[in-house]
Parts: sequence; structure tokens; C-alpha cells
Amino acid sequence: MIRLALIGCGRIATKKHTEAIIKNKEIFDLVAVVDPVKEKAENIANIIENAGLKRPEIYTDYNEVLKREDIDMVSIATESGYHYQISVDAMNSNKHVLVEKPMALSTKDMNHMIQLSKEKNLKLGVCFQNRFNPPIQEMRKKLENKEFGNLLHGQISIRWNRNKSYYEQAPWRGTWNLDGGTLMNQCTHGIDLLQWTFGEIEEITGRIENFNHPYIEAEDFGSAIIKFKNGAVGIIEGTANVYPKNLEETLSVFGEKGTVVIGGLAVNKIETWRFENEDSHPFQNLPDPDTVYGAGHVPLYRDFYESIVNDRNPYVSGEDGKRAVEIVLAIYKSAKEGKPVKIPFEFSTEEMKGFFKKVEK
Ligand SMILES: NC(=O)c1ccc[n+]([C@@H]2O[C@H](COP(=O)([O-])OP(=O)(O)OC[C@H]3O[C@@H](n4cnc5c(N)ncnc54)[C@H](O)[C@@H]3O)[C@@H](O)[C@H]2O)c1
Repeated sequence: MIRLALIGCGRIATKKHTEAIIKNKEIFDLVAVVDPVKEKAENIANIIENAGLKRPEIYTDYNEVLKREDIDMVSIATESGYHYQISVDAMNSNKHVLVEKPMALSTKDMNHMIQLSKEKNLKLGVCFQNRFNPPIQEMRKKLENKEFGNLLHGQISIRWNRNKSYYEQAPWRGTWNLDGGTLMNQCTHGIDLLQWTFGEIEEITGRIENFNHPYIEAEDFGSAIIKFKNGAVGIIEGTANVYPKNLEETLSVFGEKGTVVIGGLAVNKIETWRFENEDSHPFQNLPDPDTVYGAGHVPLYRDFYESIVNDRNPYVSGEDGKRAVEIVLAIYKSAKEGKPVKIPFEFSTEEMKGFFKKVEK
């Protein structure tokens, strides 16, 4: 059993980390839950206890938990802007780290996290759970078997709605120092899938807007053209403005010998599947799951456990976590400077402060 502490007991921790821990109860022992808002930690402790598992101890300061030598690993589900410091403190206390997306908000911080995990021989994993969506896994097999032929172009479209009450619920959302805009928050999953499919990037040109959310600092719309090193082109379209509710998140992949479109609410439904002698997929008629989070935290936690016990890279490593955030940062930098951005580069969401001048809180 891996002995684990959960740091940050808000929405995603309550909805998904708790479920992943309960469904993997034979390999994880949740011994501590931490949140400065004690009731939130207590709520998760109650859920764990009600599921028939041992009640975790409650903490309001994560530093106290990091002092415990009996804890092997921490999961971090705090506001995005705190991921970096908590990850570094945890690794300096010799804990493996599974961190929510986005892993951090600057290239410098991400590089430091990756370097520290290597130096200390600790696992660093990132919650891009949509990689485990069954349709995505099916497409991955085709990609690994090279059945697409040369990849030509791909598009990720995140067409969702986030209204004023969503931002009022948690004031850190949409701020440059703790979050970023819709590209960094809602769209990083899809951007990860696009880059995971198409590979290394040469150059990105981006544009962001705040069309409809004058009360947040960051963007509610983002778009980009990516030039991949293999010559393929990627298109990103992400919005939080779709009237009146979430419409779709769709990944389209066009190769010389294959076409796949995975859509539905959140890239969990095969819409189109065409390869030589194949024009459909058995999963095609499955219902679309009704949550944008999918069910990927359960296999992601299991994989992270296996990465520790077998001393191998997690399926979604720190390097993987970095690539998607790097794309978002490149879009921000490109929007700010009005020109394409070549990889590698250095940038931070903090450098976007004041980009949209019309903030009304
Ligand atoms: N993987 C996904 O699909 C997914 C979905 C939603 C959110 N997220 C990510 O999860 C993170 C949390 O999002 P959320 O919507 O749950 O936010 P939230 O505001 O509901 O929860 C964050 C919690 O962290 C707590 N916290 C703050 N500082 C802390 C500290 N020092 N120690 C312990 N706890 C602390 C807060 O009190 C709060 O309860 C964000 O990074 C977000 O991007 C991921």
C-alpha cells in the first residue's frame, strides 16, 4: 500500500480524487487530508469513512503533513497557482507528487519541478486524466501502430460555457497569478491531447480575447496555429462563451490514411472513425458520459501507484504535464508580443498582468 496525503479538498478533490482513492482502496491508504478550510478536509474524511475505509487525519497546514515520514506520496488539488510551491516542498520532504493540471504557471517553475523529481528520484505525475478516456486510448493504439500514415492536421475545439457564478464561486479563477484564463484552466486537457497525438512543436501563433467576462483578468477565448516538427499543423479553439451551456470538446485528427473525430461533451465519444477497410468503431454508439471530468482519475491513480512500485515513469509525467502548459504560455506570449513564439522559451502567466485593461470586479 502507498500511504498518501491529499492536499487541497475543494471541488475536484471531492468529486474525483476521493473516488479514485476509494476505487483503488487495495493499493492506496489515505492517511491525511489537508485544507486551510477545515470543514472541506472533514468533508472528504467523512466520504472516505462512509465508504468503509479508515478515516484520514485532518490537517490545516500541509507542512505538518510533510514532516510525517510514514507518508509516501501527496496528491495536490489546490488552486493552480499553489501547485509549484507545494510540489517543491513535498519533494524536498521526499514525497512522490501527483499534481492537478496545470502543474504550474511558468516555464521556470515547471522545469524546476521536473529537475527536482529527477534529482531526488521521486515520481512526478500530472492529472491529465482524459488520456485514459476509452476513445482516446483506442485512437492511441492506431497512432502507435502507425495506421494514420503521415499526420497532416488536427484540431481541438473546446466550446464550453463558464458564467459569472462559476467565477464568483472561487475568486482565484481567471486571475493571472493563480489560474490563467480558459486556455489554462478548461482547455489544457484538450491541448495536451493534441500535442500528445502530433508530437514536438516548432512554433506557435496565438490570439486571446476577453469577449464576455469583464470581471476576470484573463481570457475567455483563445485560438492558435501550431507548426509541429513533423510538418503537421494544429489548430486550437477554446472558449468559455458558448450560449447558453457547454456544447462540446472535440479532437479531430487527419492523417494520410486515417480520420478520427472524438467529441461529445468532453472528448469521450467517437464521432468519426475511418481507416482502410474500417469506417466505424464498436464504441461509436456508446452514450456520452454526462461529466466533463470523465472517469480517468481512477486509472491515473493506479498507473501512478505502478510507476512508484515498478520505478518507471508515470503515464502522464512531469514532462508531459509541462508540454500542454508550455503551449498555453506560448499562446499568451504570442498574443502579448504579436508574433509567433518558437519553442523553447521562458514565460509566466504573471507576465500577462494588465493585458486586458477592462477589468471590473
Ligand atoms: N483534472 C481535472 O479535470 C480538473 C477539474 C477541475 C479542477 N482541476 C484543477 O484542480 C485544482 C483545484 O480546482 P478546484 O476546482 O477543486 O478548486 P477549489 O477552489 O474548489 O479547491 C481548492 C482547495 O484548495 C484549498 N487550499 C488552498 N491552499 C491550500 C493549502 N496551502 N493547503 C491545502 N489546501 C489548500 C482551498 O481551501 C480549496 O478548498 C486546480 O488546479 C484546477 O485547475 C482539475
